[in-house]
Amino acid sequence: EKGGYDHFMLKEIYEQPDAIVDTYRGRLLVDEGIIRMAGVDDNIEKFLNANRIIIVACGTSWHAGLVAEYIFEEFARIPVEVEYASEFRYRNPVINEKDVVIAISQSGETADTLAAIKLAKENGAFVFGVCNVVGSSIARETDAGAYTHAGPEIGVASTKAFTTQITVLSLIALTLAKAKGKLSKSDYHLYLNELELIPKKVLKALTANEHIIKISETYKDASNFLYLGRGFNFPVALEGALKLKEISYIHAEGYPAAEMKHGPIALIDEQMPVVVIATKKGHYEKVVSNIQEIKSRHGKIIAVVTEGDIMVSELADHVIEVPETVEAFTPLLTTIPLQLLSYHIAVMRNCNVDQPRNLAKSVTVE
Ligand code: F6R
Repeated sequence: EKGGYDHFMLKEIYEQPDAIVDTYRGRLLVDEGIIRMAGVDDNIEKFLNANRIIIVACGTSWHAGLVAEYIFEEFARIPVEVEYASEFRYRNPVINEKDVVIAISQSGETADTLAAIKLAKENGAFVFGVCNVVGSSIARETDAGAYTHAGPEIGVASTKAFTTQITVLSLIALTLAKAKGKLSKSDYHLYLNELELIPKKVLKALTANEHIIKISETYKDASNFLYLGRGFNFPVALEGALKLKEISYIHAEGYPAAEMKHGPIALIDEQMPVVVIATKKGHYEKVVSNIQEIKSRHGKIIAVVTEGDIMVSELADHVIEVPETVEAFTPLLTTIPLQLLSYHIAVMRNCNVDQPRNLAKSVTVE
């Protein structure tokens, strides 16, 4: 059932190229130059008339929501707020019929997300679901939706759900961008083409596995990790840190790279591995200077870089390459090595990777 892999988590990491194809199949029609998604197309006016989009989710799905915030604002110029479902539901939020709420949930059963949806509906908002489990409570409770077609995710640590959620949300953002005339024809086609190429690039990113095993050996006994990223890759830093803590029980924090000097830089010494997402474009030079700051404090740098990178490679202790793509889609690639890093470290620490202590696959109680 694990298809020859030692753990479901590893199997699911490796399934991502196929899972992303399954998610955009029949929707991303590159030859025709269109995106077809019934849930969005049938409700396009609701999206176009919205004052803003509010994304509600928990955990890894909330991180996918943060990536989506950057993508929606970049492509479609619609303001987006991303909320922890648990905070949103108890905050007496300002919400009305001019709002569109997108709920993201792999299981479709997360109690807080479900409650947030009900609250949004009571207040007249249009509620759209991005779920993986067909027929789940959230899928049924929402006004419309689009499934991620990731297939069953068994490992408690979410992997392919995250990348397929970003895929669906990118398709929605591109659809709205086109409907609003916010992207030139050539840019729109460029993004369609790039999205179609992502699965092949994920496959390429996975070839870093052996190299990541060696890096994992070096840092498996660390007590703390810091993860840094900027822009589209800031949420990837959060997600990388979450993945490490939940399965290896190593304390890890994700931060926007520029926030480092407002506090966390105090933690950096020769004992501190710092994972930095430093792909090209996306404030590359700024990230390079963040790396220099870490280096001058003797932190150990594990950098995720664009293939062929020279500048960061000279500074970092270790580099892991991912293929080049447009900046907005880099999270789909930069996430991959971070999943593998946490997986291998957890295995080396003899942790129960698929069923980490204290965690359940779906959190149906608040
Ligand atoms: C992290 C993880 C959790 C879930 C969260 C939301 O690896 O699995 O943080 O992402 O409990 O679950 P769903 O997406 O099912 O609502």
